[in-house]
Amino acid sequence: MSVEVVVIPAAGRGTRMRPATRSVPKALITVIDRPTIQYAVEEAARAGVTEAVLVVNLDAANDIEHHFIDEGPLPGLENTRIRMVVQEEPHGLGHAVLTAREAVGDRRFFCGLGDMIAPPTASFYQRLEEAAAGGSAVAVKEGVEDYYDRYGIVSVSRSLDDGVVEMNAAVEKPGREAAPSNLWLVGRYLFGPDVFDHLSALKPGHGDEIQLTDAINAVAAAGQCRGVVLEDDLLDVGNPLDLLKASTVLGLLSDEFGKDYRAFLDGLG
Ligand code: G1P
Repeated sequence: MSVEVVVIPAAGRGTRMRPATRSVPKALITVIDRPTIQYAVEEAARAGVTEAVLVVNLDAANDIEHHFIDEGPLPGLENTRIRMVVQEEPHGLGHAVLTAREAVGDRRFFCGLGDMIAPPTASFYQRLEEAAAGGSAVAVKEGVEDYYDRYGIVSVSRSLDDGVVEMNAAVEKPGREAAPSNLWLVGRYLFGPDVFDHLSALKPGHGDEIQLTDAINAVAAAGQCRGVVLEDDLLDVGNPLDLLKASTVLGLLSDEFGKDYRAFLDGLG
């Protein structure tokens, strides 16, 4: 059966987005006309997902619930059930995903980080599902510049067709010397429920946090994880400069505003 549920971790404190996040939850920072987390739910809905589990922190829970639920469903999300689970303590991304365990149950699930927005019509989940062959799959990109300190990096045992690789390990922000490849995790994943067992067995890793990448490492070591090498760029909205760039890219791609916005930018010289 195809995957019906997505977990969207959105409990981060947004320290890179201060001072905005003194009063606005990171997930509700706006790009053009909607909060970043809405893009993540919309992308999953485009892939046919009918249930989104948003992992939020206690401070942000009411505002995020208000956005998605209180005034009724948002256009395009009428067929997506949205539920909230609260991560009470900030113990890392892996811990946030583990918080969704009860809501997901024994189903396979997608996971998508709201810090990375997909281009408007793209959805990478379908490619993950095709590549996973019943196991797990993660989307990766070839790195340029300082990716090995910023992202999780995967280790490849074999290349298959169509940009799909078999993996045998993954490591969180290993640094240049220890990076096992130039392929970094972009924040789109497909997991089986077994990942929860791995997550619950983990000790704190990089940054003294429970790392999702360490659970991916365990799944990959068991030969159950494939990587899908993406050509497309996702747009990082987790820090001010990249947020500005993402706003520009999405502004130019917008059906409603793209033409006027381009004319405005051209006029700046
Ligand atoms: C997280 C993950 C990392 C991944 C990145 C993608 O890191 O831990 O493996 O590459 O998202 O954005 P963070 O950005 O939360 O530091």
